[in-house]
Amino acid sequence: MKKFQTFLFLIIITVSGCKNEVKIYEATPENLHLGSKIYASSEFNCKNCHGIDYKGNTSEAKELKEKGIPVTDFTGPIPPEKTPLDYFKVISVGTNRTLDGDYNYHAYYNLTDSAKWALANFLYSLGQEPKTKEEIQKRKQALQSAIQEIESIYKNNRKWYLGENTPSQQREKSRPLQEMLQNTNFKLAQEYPYKILNEQKIQKILEIQNQYIEGSLIYVNNCQSCHGIGGEGVQGAANINVLDESRYEPIKNISRRKSAFVSISSLSIDSIKLEAIQKVHPDYYFTESQWNDLIQYLKIILEK
Ligand code: HEC
Ligand code: HEC
Repeated sequence: MKKFQTFLFLIIITVSGCKNEVKIYEATPENLHLGSKIYASSEFNCKNCHGIDYKGNTSEAKELKEKGIPVTDFTGPIPPEKTPLDYFKVISVGTNRTLDGDYNYHAYYNLTDSAKWALANFLYSLGQEPKTKEEIQKRKQALQSAIQEIESIYKNNRKWYLGENTPSQQREKSRPLQEMLQNTNFKLAQEYPYKILNEQKIQKILEIQNQYIEGSLIYVNNCQSCHGIGGEGVQGAANINVLDESRYEPIKNISRRKSAFVSISSLSIDSIKLEAIQKVHPDYYFTESQWNDLIQYLKIILEK
């Protein structure tokens, strides 16, 4: 916690001219919480290498280690000269060791600066404090010059372009998606643990939708993005906000999203009861007849 206080303290000194403005690079509790959520739901699968325990012990990490590229253990001691800015840069452009030929697999161009700062500050917060006096002094100086560098960039730019991270207008256009998919071994139906509906089933559901318009509209507009067209479930980040408190844990007194692989399993016909749905989803305020329409519709599509 002390380290954060130091970092926050430095930021407070340097930005005391504009008191109420929260900067994206500040390690505020909100930003740390956000970082934990982005990590937990990472589309970019930070977890594949860095692990859900942040220790870099996954099988993919072991393969990298065998090639002489150890994956950082975020919970270990951080060298005193290292700052969240270093983490931000590694997330933005990677390092020499994360090069795969010409391609740097660790350059997350698609993440916004605020997402990268949230991740950088969150992951940095998991590390151990420096112990000796000299180390503490070194850390302090490193943080100070990091803040100077950060401020000088954001004074003139909304986004920090680093290395290959050129503005999108100037980037080479990528190939059409179809062409890229043809060059991969990507097989959707086999890659994902949830069921993929076949054409016949989808056709059937569309027919049912025409017969049960009210119920189907409620489902499509409120439930389908998470539960799938036919209640088959989905995988991905969209689900992260609905998870209950038990999926959060405090680290150093700040609430963080527990890191996990996220997917929503298929709906079972037995769970389609008003009380059961309201228990998992207390925030839906439908009228009695809307609930009835929705439940009737769900029972029908799940039965078929
Ligand atoms: C394919 C494996 C892999 C994935 C996926 C991956 N990393 Fe890394 N990461 C590494 C390796 C290897 C290193 C160490 C690089 C080095 O030592 O030069 C590293 C280093 C880092 C560092 C720097 C730590 C330090 O000590 O300086 C940060 C921060 C980081 N990763 C964050 C992320 C985030 C955030 C994501 C997801 C958006 C991610 N990583 C995804 C393999 C990975
Ligand atoms: C933002 C995502 C999201 C939306 C939108 C959503 N759900 Fe869910 N739902 C979940 C998650 C997450 C669970 C927990 C199940 C899990 O972990 O697989 C769940 C669980 C359920 C369950 C219990 C499933 C079981 O087998 O125990 C039912 C029933 C359900 N939802 C119905 C609905 C209905 C009806 C709607 C629309 C009114 C809806 N959900 C909207 C994410 C969502």
